[in-house]
Amino acid sequence: MQIFTEKDKLITVIRSNYHLLPVINRFGIRLGVKDKTVGDICREKQINPLFFLAVVNTFHNVDYFPKTDLLTVSPLQIVAYLRKTHQYYLEYEVLKIERLLEKLLLGCPTQCTDLKMIDSFYRKYKKELFLHIMEEEEKVFPYIISLTQNRKRIPGYSISSYEKEHSDVDSKLNDLTSLVIKYLEPAYNDNDCNEFLIALSKFERDLADHARIEDNVLVPLVLELEKELGDE
Ligand SMILES: [Fe+2]
Ligand SMILES: [Fe+2]
Repeated sequence: MQIFTEKDKLITVIRSNYHLLPVINRFGIRLGVKDKTVGDICREKQINPLFFLAVVNTFHNVDYFPKTDLLTVSPLQIVAYLRKTHQYYLEYEVLKIERLLEKLLLGCPTQCTDLKMIDSFYRKYKKELFLHIMEEEEKVFPYIISLTQNRKRIPGYSISSYEKEHSDVDSKLNDLTSLVIKYLEPAYNDNDCNEFLIALSKFERDLADHARIEDNVLVPLVLELEKELGDE
């Protein structure tokens, strides 16, 4: 397992895994990194290196999860990172997947009921994903921000009532991938379909990583804070 540290040059991190680029971008880091190390860049951008490395290493190694490191990070920093991730999903990933699905549909010369079924399944999934993200953006994150900043419980609200439907959103995307692999009829374009599936699987991994940070880091942190602040 390759674990990055503050001493590693950022160019080494990027060259080891180009999928880390959008993750790194969410911290406001862009290319032109010269020979700077992770530590140099974090100091320059005023990023908590512990948080940066925890996120990057978790994304790079599926089995790595530095829960104790992350539990020292402020919920505000985690929320800011998660919000950037939502924005990336809505403004880039989802649109890319849709473009690829559209190309796949256009390339089909016949009725293609199978592809139409996949398309309608995708639309339902997208609606659910958007609802989930909106709920977090409009209710959950503002609650966490207010709790952290004001250090006061809000009557009638607790984090434990939240994040029950992650497994549902995750499994729907998994079902969609299986649907394509198992039931696609022969009249499809190989390259278009491969690109679509690869984009779906990349998105699935990114989402699972995102949900892991919400469920295993953010929620326990907020529960701890609620306990500290006492009854509503
Ligand atoms: Fe989220
Ligand atoms: Fe979520």
